[in-house]
Amino acid sequence: MSRRALIQYLELLKQSGVRQLYLTPKNIEAAPDKLQTLNNLKTAYGDCNKCPLAKGRINLVYGEGNPNAKAMLIGEAPGEQENDTGRPFVGAAGQLLDKMLAAINIRREDVYIANIVKCRPEGNRNPSQEERLACLPYLVEQINIIQPQIFLILGLVAAQTLFGDSNTLTWHRENRSEFMGRPTWVTYHPAALLRNPNWKRPAWEDLQAFQQAYEKL
Ligand code: URA
Ligand code: SF4
Repeated sequence: MSRRALIQYLELLKQSGVRQLYLTPKNIEAAPDKLQTLNNLKTAYGDCNKCPLAKGRINLVYGEGNPNAKAMLIGEAPGEQENDTGRPFVGAAGQLLDKMLAAINIRREDVYIANIVKCRPEGNRNPSQEERLACLPYLVEQINIIQPQIFLILGLVAAQTLFGDSNTLTWHRENRSEFMGRPTWVTYHPAALLRNPNWKRPAWEDLQAFQQAYEKL
């Protein structure tokens, strides 16, 4: 990891409330593989009460996909259908995401898909800063298990949370950078594309750039 990546990572941990660098012992069974580890964590966090979003939870939406994925996609928060099923991106936005992936020749089951927060904000409001930071350690842990090589960040909320800034989506799209030491692309959230079809063309450009990098891995 480069020095810059390490500093960004430590900043992120600090923002997530991490003050000491050792893992809190959890009652997680030692797992023989990544998938089992992820499944154990998903079960362990099913009754998480660290933030107010726990109130609206029917199902924790931990994330899903290939535990050895080369690319990880990070969205914002579960919506109604995700809360009902416990699976990320299965509603209208998810169907568009599936088409976006198909258009760049990436199979959904080859990547890993997760969100910034794992429980649904009521009425699909944006998760608060408090909620995002409460949930972020779970995502960081998930990334450390899966060890993807590149990221695709979907939408402004995810980008601002991961980079700890308040820059615009356009800024994030144009200033491609690194997250946790890996090359990272930011594009429009599929739900935003459903509302604003004019953004489909710039999103397509982002996706093609992401595809080029993905195919080189
Ligand atoms: N929007 C998201 O950001 N994530 C989901 O899982 C579904 C919709
Ligand atoms: Fe816990 Fe994350 Fe759900 Fe908040 S959103 S209750 S931190 S799992």
